[in-house]
Amino acid sequence: MKALLEIDNVTLRFGGVVAVNKVSFSVEEGEVFALVGPNGAGKSTLFNLVSRFYDPVEGDIRFAGESILDRRPHEIARLGIARTFQNIELFEQATVLQNLLVGRHRHRQGSFAGQILFTPFVRKEERRHREAVEKVIDFLDLQPYREKYIAGLPYGVRKVVELGRALAIEPRLLLLDEPASGLSVEETQDVAFWIEDIRKQMGITVLMVEHDMHLVSSVSDRVLALADGKMLSLGTPQEVQNDPAVIEAYIGTSDEHERVVA
Ligand SMILES: Nc1ncnc2c1ncn2[C@@H]1O[C@H](COP(=O)(O)OP(=O)(O)OP(=O)(O)O)[C@@H](O)[C@H]1O
Ligand SMILES: [Mg+2]
Repeated sequence: MKALLEIDNVTLRFGGVVAVNKVSFSVEEGEVFALVGPNGAGKSTLFNLVSRFYDPVEGDIRFAGESILDRRPHEIARLGIARTFQNIELFEQATVLQNLLVGRHRHRQGSFAGQILFTPFVRKEERRHREAVEKVIDFLDLQPYREKYIAGLPYGVRKVVELGRALAIEPRLLLLDEPASGLSVEETQDVAFWIEDIRKQMGITVLMVEHDMHLVSSVSDRVLALADGKMLSLGTPQEVQNDPAVIEAYIGTSDEHERVVA
């Protein structure tokens, strides 16, 4: 196995807060890798660094062996990195199908004139987009919702659409920021099955942030625990959960779902 994503000694500060403090780890091709840690640990900030929303003050980030620090956020999807957001980000006044097609934007080829004139090439391309999106709709059982507007959908379904929007890009690396937050036990079980299939059937590498340790243990190969921007523990789910440094970091966390030994 070889590293698909390498985080190399990365630091990011917000004023006086060191949100990410000399963090290094790599995600192997084909792996499911989880980031855990209390609120404010720096997990989402790491995703935002990989998405190139922030520039690290120190360190390097490599994807498929090449530094992506010179890449702009809009180039990231084209490289093969897709993500979901902790607070779902979808077009509210558009349908499920339209939201998934937007995800395909990076695959659009052909000239502007070609698009206007609707050449055979563009028509063929449009069909390809449709096929890719239909595959995702089937995979995530979204058929009943395809023509429904996002604004009218229950939270659990929006969450699935967000996953679908990322999958429609056909990425090599999928970043999931709290895929199970706010979901029922049954919905979380579905997420676990999907993550397994995303890895096995689609061959996509997954990096996820998640507080639900049951989900983390059931799908992840390796886990990195962070606290206050620093690396605490890296290993199998079992090793990390039993690491005294990790248990210590969670002591005093009042929020029940935050406890690593849930
Ligand atoms: N845009 C920002 N401006 C200033 N500070 C920020 C910004 N984004 C994050 N922070 C700070 O950086 C630290 C890490 O935040 P981050 O959102 O990465 O945590 P997290 O691990 O994702 O937490 P949670 O589990 O609550 O989602 C926190 O102290 C947070 O307040
Ligand atoms: Mg977060």
